[in-house]
Parts: sequence; C-alpha cells; structure tokens
Amino acid sequence: MKGAEAILKKTRVLTFAAVEKFRPKKKYRAAALDEKIRRERTRREARLLARAKEAGVTCPVVYEVSDFSIRMKFLEGEMLYHALRRRAIKPAEIASAARILAALHSVDVVHGDFTPANLMNTREGMAVIDFGLGSISNDNEDKGTDIVTMQKALGAKKGALFAAAYARAGGKAPVLRMAKEIGKRGRYMERG
Ligand SMILES: Nc1ncnc2c1ncn2[C@@H]1O[C@H](COP(=O)(O)OP(=O)(O)O)[C@@H](O)[C@H]1O
Ligand SMILES: [Mg+2]
Repeated sequence: MKGAEAILKKTRVLTFAAVEKFRPKKKYRAAALDEKIRRERTRREARLLARAKEAGVTCPVVYEVSDFSIRMKFLEGEMLYHALRRRAIKPAEIASAARILAALHSVDVVHGDFTPANLMNTREGMAVIDFGLGSISNDNEDKGTDIVTMQKALGAKKGALFAAAYARAGGKAPVLRMAKEIGKRGRYMERG
C-alpha cells in the first residue's frame, strides 16, 4: 500500500487489524518546515476522520495519532475504483457515495479528493478513506469542488445522477449551484 505522499502498512493495535499511515520526510523541503507540514497534515487527517465518524459516516476509526503517523482500523473490502475497472457503477453505489458526501458537508468536512479511489465497499456498506487533502470549511466552493471531483471521475451521465443523489441526501442547493459553475469553468479551461 503506497499513496502519493504517505506510506501505508498493515499492522495491529492490540488484537485489532490496523493500518499505519506514515508521512515520510521530503528531502526537498527544509527540515524544520518539513516536520511542521507533516505534523500538521497528520493531525488534520486524524481530526477529520474523527469528525466524519461523529457525523455517522463509515470511515476508519482512529486508534492512535503520533507526530507523523496515524494508526486506524483496517477496513476489509474492495476499493470502488477497482470494482469499476470490471463493471459500471451501480445506482446504489452512486446513492451511497452521495450520502457520504452530503453527511461530510453537513458538518463542514471537505474531503479534498472524493473519488472512487478513496471509497471502499465493505460489509458495513460504503466507507470513505484518505482525508489527507481534506479541510474543515463551510465554503460552498470547497464543497462544490468535492462534487465536481467525483463527477469528473464518473463521467457526465453518472455524474449528473451523483449530483441528484447528493441533493436527495440533503446536500444544499447553493453547493450544487457552485458545482455547476466550477464544472463549466473546468470545461472552458480544457477547451482552452
Ligand atoms: N483504513 C484502511 N483500511 C484498509 N485499507 C486502507 C485503509 N487506508 C488506506 N488503505 C489502502 O491504502 C491505500 C492508500 O491510502 P490513502 O489513505 O488513500 O493514501 P494516499 O493519501 O497516499 O492516497 C488506499 O487506496 C487503500 O487501498
Ligand atoms: Mg488515496
């Protein structure tokens, strides 16, 4: 398991299967700044996981936080991204993902990388992981960006279904309006 900036390994906490997510040194950053960044990102990710869990979202429970690493519950299941290499996304999965995002946004948790690569099908239903790029924000543009990120991953047709499901799950209209704006902007930029 290796992500973009962290090293993940399977471990245990007491008798529980766990994952340790460690942020290693980045040599291109000055040492003091590097430590500060890694410490802050680690703390922030742990805080967001806890806040998401409190909001009733299925995500790994945090067992332990230290300076540069988090130990959290190991979730059994398949990443949605992997499943989608074999088959199309199901309506129930679109609905589950939208419920997760609406619940996160209801407590001002912005995920920052909300895609099928960070969603997992587990026996307890769909779970979300990787709050490494997340933040706490009540800004409609930040929340709208989460929607657009998922829509880009799903494509136009499923993306539209995702927005509708987000609305049904209690997602706010101003956030959806903002997502539409951001989506348009993106398309202009791609056309150049
Ligand atoms: N709690 C967890 N339980 C099981 N697998 C996990 C867990 N957290 C991460 N993983 C696995 O590790 C990979 C990378 O983790 P992630 O948090 O997404 O790191 P990055 O921020 O580097 O993308 C995930 O795609 C997933 O396969
Ligand atoms: Mg990830």
